[in-house]
Amino acid sequence: MKHAAVLGTGSSMPKRVLTNADLEQMVETSDEWITSRTGIQTRRIAGEGEQTHLLAARAAEKALLMAKISAEEIDLIVVATITPHKIMPSCACFVQSEIGATKAFAFDLNAACSGFLYGLDLADKYILNRPDMKILLIGAENLSARVNWKDRNTCILFGDGAGACVLSSKKDGAGIIDSNLFSDGTLWQLLHMDSPQSLNPDLVEEIIDDSYILMSGKDVFKHAVRAMEDAIKGLLKRHGLSTSDIALMIPHQANIRILNKLVNRLGMPQENVYINVDRYGNTSAASIPIAIDEANRQGKINKGDLLLFCSFGGGFTWGSLLMQW
Ligand code: ACO
Repeated sequence: MKHAAVLGTGSSMPKRVLTNADLEQMVETSDEWITSRTGIQTRRIAGEGEQTHLLAARAAEKALLMAKISAEEIDLIVVATITPHKIMPSCACFVQSEIGATKAFAFDLNAACSGFLYGLDLADKYILNRPDMKILLIGAENLSARVNWKDRNTCILFGDGAGACVLSSKKDGAGIIDSNLFSDGTLWQLLHMDSPQSLNPDLVEEIIDDSYILMSGKDVFKHAVRAMEDAIKGLLKRHGLSTSDIALMIPHQANIRILNKLVNRLGMPQENVYINVDRYGNTSAASIPIAIDEANRQGKINKGDLLLFCSFGGGFTWGSLLMQW
């Protein structure tokens, strides 16, 4: 059986850097509070020419270049996002048009911060069925457009950006090994974002919040650590592996305290975990592919390495995934 393997990676970050000192001018907060509670020091904020699909397209072009594959050879484009700039057409269709992937079919995937992990699993299923298929999987977000900039509980956490992987089968045994994915829709109220007001008068909610991210931080924290720990332990056990077999763990970059707690519970050495939340904050579905691209370009991933990915996000959605590089 031939699994989905990564042929190339890319990422694209907005130019504007928003620091904790900048946030001190916007809401009642401090650099000390944000750094100690979240580990975040800066995040990128999209501006002109940096809408979700454009960041996604720039990340895709870099991944294609590394993979030495032209846009015309791509069969499928999937964009994991909760912040497309339009509901219709999909962000993936805009990317197709932007990069000229004329042969591809394209759609978006919404699984919040777990979107890229769900997308990897999806790509693997397509490639198991058709090993020569070439898939462009992108995680891209413009969360700054959906954050309440007056709410200090949330506005300090999020950032914008995009990351991409070109996937197909390889002859050398590299590829996705297995995944362990979950959702629990009963807990949706702990982390959510409304769509624009309904135009059907019968469906208009009496009290509607603006369409920004709402979160019960403490509950999210508690669920995130436990859920990712269970998803990872279950997956490793299924394959008779332990954390000492993992060359690098690339987790969703939510905040440093969630990650530290998770890493402690797993008993993993800190140096085997890739962290960039300090520079980019939480970029939801984009966080894992941005981290993959950085780690790859920094030479932190080597051929044959066993990689572990994990995520947790709105839905709730969460999971883990094992891949041989
Ligand atoms: N600056 C200063 N004070 C603040 C800020 C801020 N930016 N935000 C909240 N506070 C205040 C609160 O109002 C509260 O004040 P009070 O005691 O007078 O009411 C106090 O700080 C403590 O607030 P808590 O909510 O108890 O702070 P906590 O230690 O839980 O940290 C945080 C908050 C950082 C949000 C934490 O709960 C967390 O990390 N949760 C996980 C959320 C997350 O990562 N969500 C991302 C989406 S999901 C995902 O990606 C996994």
